[in-house]
Amino acid sequence: MTVRRINVVILVLLAIACLIIMHRNLLNLNDFLRRENADAVQGGLLPFEPDFSADNKVKAIRKGEEIPVVITAAEERLGAVVAAMNSIYRNSKANIVFNIVTLNASLDHLKVWMSKTTLSDIKHKIVTFDPKTLTGKFSNDPQELEAVKPLTFARFYMPSFLPDAEKAIYLDDDVIVQGDIQELFDTNIKAGHAAAFSDDCDSASSKGIVRGAGNQNNYIGFLDFKKESVKKLGMRANTCSFNPGVIVANLTEWKLQNITSQLEMWMERNFKEDLYSKTIADSITTPPLLIVFYKRHSSIDPMWHVRHLGATGAGNRYSPQFVRAAKLLHWNGHYKPWGRASSFSEVWDKWYVPDPEGKFHPIRRHPEEK
Ligand SMILES: *[C@@H]1O[C@H](CO)[C@@H](O)[C@H](O)[C@H]1NC(C)=O
Ligand SMILES: *[C@@H]1O[C@H](CO)[C@@H](O)[C@H](O)[C@H]1NC(C)=O
Ligand SMILES: *[C@@H]1O[C@H](CO)[C@@H](O)[C@H](O)[C@H]1NC(C)=O
Repeated sequence: MTVRRINVVILVLLAIACLIIMHRNLLNLNDFLRRENADAVQGGLLPFEPDFSADNKVKAIRKGEEIPVVITAAEERLGAVVAAMNSIYRNSKANIVFNIVTLNASLDHLKVWMSKTTLSDIKHKIVTFDPKTLTGKFSNDPQELEAVKPLTFARFYMPSFLPDAEKAIYLDDDVIVQGDIQELFDTNIKAGHAAAFSDDCDSASSKGIVRGAGNQNNYIGFLDFKKESVKKLGMRANTCSFNPGVIVANLTEWKLQNITSQLEMWMERNFKEDLYSKTIADSITTPPLLIVFYKRHSSIDPMWHVRHLGATGAGNRYSPQFVRAAKLLHWNGHYKPWGRASSFSEVWDKWYVPDPEGKFHPIRRHPEEK
């Protein structure tokens, strides 16, 4: 009799324990669903649509302050963004979250690359950029819009896909990071400045710039100072320019100063009045930034933006020791490290993760051609 009573008590206790556990799980599920919905609402308000599906897996735990990194992924150079992200992630223990901005057509390819390879532990969100955002800023012709590579303007819209971040990093896709990105993130942005850039004159990269090799290092190389609208700004033509391939931004200040609308205004004025220098190469994103940030930006440590690796003669300009010591390498210029004739492509190769769909191939010399 007593034995049976004890059994009943144990059964009742077990049942209560089960109920408690089930209740807890339901609460967690509720929390989870609420968070998912919040994300969905946020995405719906933007011209960009954050895609959170790739982010639901359990990722390696990286604690501490979140470092948002914005980078673009263009279909013809998805291999670039993959190598850049891999180098950043493996060289840091910081809590990095990539915000990969891409066009709708590349979404599926990018998702496969990020999920079916060693990149699958990388925390990221994919954001689709609608090229219509740029209508009326160059041309109203959709085909011409396509030709100007809409993603290069994504950096102008940083606060719209990072609505909650105060500080963020933007990086071009043709970079490799060898230092801890936390150091770059800790770049001091002075009060009243919305961004930090790397100056074109006093940087390690400008030493020995070859004249006429497509390198420009002052404002007159980017803007037509004979135009009335440019004259009126009262800027000095020989002011040192900066390279916007690496940006550390204070998005709070960016929003306060309406930087995005200012940049859009200058794009529209250029479309009507043709304000950019005739000799400008392919960096049509630079002139509006030079105007808006004239004498109003902070500086990035030169070793955090060693550039012109894509220019002719880069292999002669930099010693292998210097390239090894650089924290960030930027192959701006014609010769990309996934192409045939680039300098230091062996550095880039270390970080490249092959395309599981086999569409992207770095072009390499055959060993016997060497
Ligand atoms: C995005 O691309 C998919 C196919 O990849 C297509 O079905 C869809 O209509 C596109 N959406 C937009 C908004 O263009
Ligand atoms: C960013 O700018 C805001 C507004 O000026 C300022 O209060 C804040 O301290 C700045 N944050 C950083 C990290 O520089
Ligand atoms: C930014 O835009 C807001 C609203 O459009 C306006 O009230 C504010 O004065 C603008 N600030 C600057 C610095 O232009």
